[in-house]
Amino acid sequence: MAGGDEVSRSTDWSHQPAGGELRPPPDVDLTKASIARVYDYVLGGKVNFSADRKAAESFLKVVPEARQIAIDNRNVLRRAVRYLVAEAGIRQIIDIGSGLPTAGNVHEIAHEVQPDVRVVYVDKDPIVLSHGRALLADNDTTTMITADLLRPETIFDDATTRSYIDQSKPFAVLTAAVLHHVSDEQDPVGVAARVRDRLLSGCYLLVTNFLNDGDPRAPLLERAFLEGGLGTGRFRTFEEQLPFLAGLELVEPGFVHANDWRPDEKTLTDSPVHNLLAAGLGRKP
Ligand SMILES: C[S@@+](CC[C@H](N)C(=O)[O-])C[C@H]1O[C@@H](n2cnc3c(N)ncnc32)[C@H](O)[C@@H]1O
Repeated sequence: MAGGDEVSRSTDWSHQPAGGELRPPPDVDLTKASIARVYDYVLGGKVNFSADRKAAESFLKVVPEARQIAIDNRNVLRRAVRYLVAEAGIRQIIDIGSGLPTAGNVHEIAHEVQPDVRVVYVDKDPIVLSHGRALLADNDTTTMITADLLRPETIFDDATTRSYIDQSKPFAVLTAAVLHHVSDEQDPVGVAARVRDRLLSGCYLLVTNFLNDGDPRAPLLERAFLEGGLGTGRFRTFEEQLPFLAGLELVEPGFVHANDWRPDEKTLTDSPVHNLLAAGLGRKP
């Protein structure tokens, strides 16, 4: 991403030639892998470049089945959004670290149940904004902003967020596969606490993350993530992650292996990466 942690609101890729080679704007540094584009590659998307593919291959070489972590993550995200809208009555969602548009976007899942659910997508990578804009051009319930989870106030106090989400009424915050990209030095527990501070009673927080549950592949993958071009991707234990949901009432079955979180007919019960992903949904009492 261009400019390190700099966040740009101006990047616009909507001029891409139809069917042509993807042409990035000059402020995106394609020599560095981006989390959003690596994840896109792993999920079979097209918005990725050689540095992204190289970073992905560095961990897929170590654990080829790691691709399934992304698939299982998208699936638990889908189940959580359905639960929030269909069972918990949530009508407003802030999806932080939303990633590039992919099959089964959060607003599409929510709108299958209730078409008036309002969704604000948030990502620090400007490439997400430019692709999201095209997707959301005709959608007046859903929008996207560029902001950094490390500074939650820039998300909750953003004028666009405020115009879409009435923060005096219950809403849900999704942090799916993003806190594991917050390093220990960046204090993920403190970041999650500052997000929870913005939730009023009846709000929800979803957390899904890489998991180190004693599976020997977890440290191998973590090393490949940290050293293989991406530079982030912590595999934390349940104990390290539970504080992300501190003070919240955990929706059954609690903070568990992701595929054990309210599985449905599409959930892979014998996933080869069962031990490598955790998920939990908490409600502010
Ligand atoms: C692995 S993707 C997850 C996408 C989606 N939430 C999902 O679960 O399928 C992680 C996303 O988080 C974004 N991200 C990483 N750190 C972030 C931060 N500090 N603030 C906002 N977004 C961040 C990345 O740019 C990337 O798009």
